[in-house]
Amino acid sequence: MDLGLEGKVALVMGASRGLGLACAQALSREGCTVAMAARGKDSLEAAAADLGGKNVSIHLADASVPLHRERLVNEAINRHGRIDVLITNSGGPRPGAFDAVDEAAWVHAHEVVVGQVAHLSRLAAPGMRQRKWGRIINIISSSYKEPISGLVLSNTYRPAVVGLAKTLSQELGPHGITVNNVAPGRFDTDRLREVAKARAKGEGGTLEEWMGRFGKDSPVGRLGQAQELGDAVAFLASEAARYINGVTLPVDGGLLRSL
Ligand SMILES: NC(=O)c1ccc[n+]([C@@H]2O[C@H](COP(=O)([O-])OP(=O)(O)OC[C@H]3O[C@@H](n4cnc5c(N)ncnc54)[C@H](OP(=O)(O)O)[C@@H]3O)[C@@H](O)[C@H]2O)c1
Repeated sequence: MDLGLEGKVALVMGASRGLGLACAQALSREGCTVAMAARGKDSLEAAAADLGGKNVSIHLADASVPLHRERLVNEAINRHGRIDVLITNSGGPRPGAFDAVDEAAWVHAHEVVVGQVAHLSRLAAPGMRQRKWGRIINIISSSYKEPISGLVLSNTYRPAVVGLAKTLSQELGPHGITVNNVAPGRFDTDRLREVAKARAKGEGGTLEEWMGRFGKDSPVGRLGQAQELGDAVAFLASEAARYINGVTLPVDGGLLRSL
């Protein structure tokens, strides 16, 4: 299927590894120019090289810092002329149960999860409105629907992104912009290892045992591979998905049991 993404410009947050990198790869494969953002220079350079180094730019930015977000969007627009597709993403809020999370972690989680989506959407939407075409896709978590034990910050802030995206989908829909969320279940990435480590520390067992258990939780009996999420994001970004707006799509092998 031709996804109609040839020549579009995508800004992908958290693009140096894991799910963000998979989104950048999938969009690049479909012909997008990709502005890739993350905090670490070396991994970002390696990721850009992985995309072939052509029609790619890298941007050092911390998604939790408002000044970085402004600078990043200016850089991407100066370099590529516009942003057609915005993928919000990061390493996620810090893991931990309520007692293990201090005030600074709450403030950081707000900025990196909700602040990022609100601010980057506000910065990218005016150009999309002018061109009457845009895609905003937020990588969230299955915690938006079923809280995950030991992840109080994710359980609190992911549902807030669902509310925000639904609101944006209504306000921006008339201007040719769709706003959707993708909710990963359990993917084999550094972030999941961090969660497994926290569970092992809090509840016992080893990191490997927890990774194995996470895979078996899903009806398909395994962890997801990042490319499987990237493919879903490329579809939502595509022309073919133009009538899909305001939804949260679980990409989880059936992990979420609730209706
Ligand atoms: N993997 C899963 O199973 C799973 C399940 C549910 C939800 N999720 C969510 O999906 C998102 C991506 O997860 P992942 O597994 O791909 O994580 P990951 O493998 O840890 O990769 C995170 C990416 O984001 C970047 N990043 C981290 N903090 C950042 C920040 N403050 N500002 C800008 N970039 C930042 C990282 O690079 P730098 O460190 O260099 O900045 C890296 O490129 C997270 O929000 C995670 O909570 C993942």
